Amino acid sequence: MALITSTEMFKKAQEGNYAIGAFNVNNMEIIQGIMDAACEERSPLILQVSAGARRYAKPAYLMKLVEAAMIDTGLDVVLHLDHGENFDVCKSCVDDGFSSVMIDASKLSFEENIAQTKRVVEYAHDKGVVVEAELGTLAGIEDAVSVAEKDAKFTDPDQACEFVERTGVDSLAIAIGTSHGAYKFKGEPMLDFERLEKISNLMPGFPIVLHGASSVPKAFVDLCNQYGGNIPGAQGVPEEMLAKAATMGVAKINIDTDLRLAMTSSIRKVMAENPEVFDPREYLKVGRTAIKEMVAHKMRNVLGSSGKL
Ligand code: G3H
Ligand code: 13P
Ligand code: ZN
Repeated sequence: MALITSTEMFKKAQEGNYAIGAFNVNNMEIIQGIMDAACEERSPLILQVSAGARRYAKPAYLMKLVEAAMIDTGLDVVLHLDHGENFDVCKSCVDDGFSSVMIDASKLSFEENIAQTKRVVEYAHDKGVVVEAELGTLAGIEDAVSVAEKDAKFTDPDQACEFVERTGVDSLAIAIGTSHGAYKFKGEPMLDFERLEKISNLMPGFPIVLHGASSVPKAFVDLCNQYGGNIPGAQGVPEEMLAKAATMGVAKINIDTDLRLAMTSSIRKVMAENPEVFDPREYLKVGRTAIKEMVAHKMRNVLGSSGKL
């Protein structure tokens, strides 16, 4: 087993009309839950680490935890930096041994995004590391969004093509209506599949990435709230829409919020129902199992990656 890049994984996923789940990790229990699910499901996977997760767990611990996860399970892993905001953080992760980094310069102008992405691509490729970039504004849409507003926020298909050609990037996160966190849509959930189709037709075989792809299952929100949480009326991306996107050129689907919900709701429940518990292992193992079940469900029923190892 080894740290691998996503190149082969994405190729197989696109040929097989499924997607690879990229799951955010912050600590040992989250990593173990995800890895256990991948083992049981015989599914490829990406572990991704945000700058916040790196600050929380500290880089050295994260690297060793991922190394331990590979030894324990015998699985190959892609270790990916999520939302690297500048060249320096991407370089630091490449130097640490990550096999994949994201440079997220999507807030900058088209030309500046290209320049920053190219700089990261040159450095990373030289070290055998692959790069994801982002083009468009990852924002959920309001009830009555106009065509002009959509065109301004969402990824422009022709620009996506030009961006990929000029940067040499390995995958591209696009904006078609998803957004981060638990509140993605005010009204009916809507993804711009027409735009996705245009983009994948213009770049056949090129791996497209969807961020903000948690579904925020009502049952988990309710469970959290039943045991003292206060998550009002959340609205995620319906799983059927994600499963459809996975057959349309989307090779990587990012999931963090649903893992947070699964872990937190199960821990809230066990602590509320067992007030005598004060051994952290008692509730963390419940959280770990909840992560494993959520990830296995995503692999089997949403991504279609189960059995693809
Ligand atoms: O897209 C962001 C991920 O959900 C990571 O979130 O920056 O709070 O670790 P974070
Ligand atoms: P969610 O907030 O929908 O889980 O998205 C996670 C993500 O995009 C991480 O980069
Ligand atoms: Zn994201």
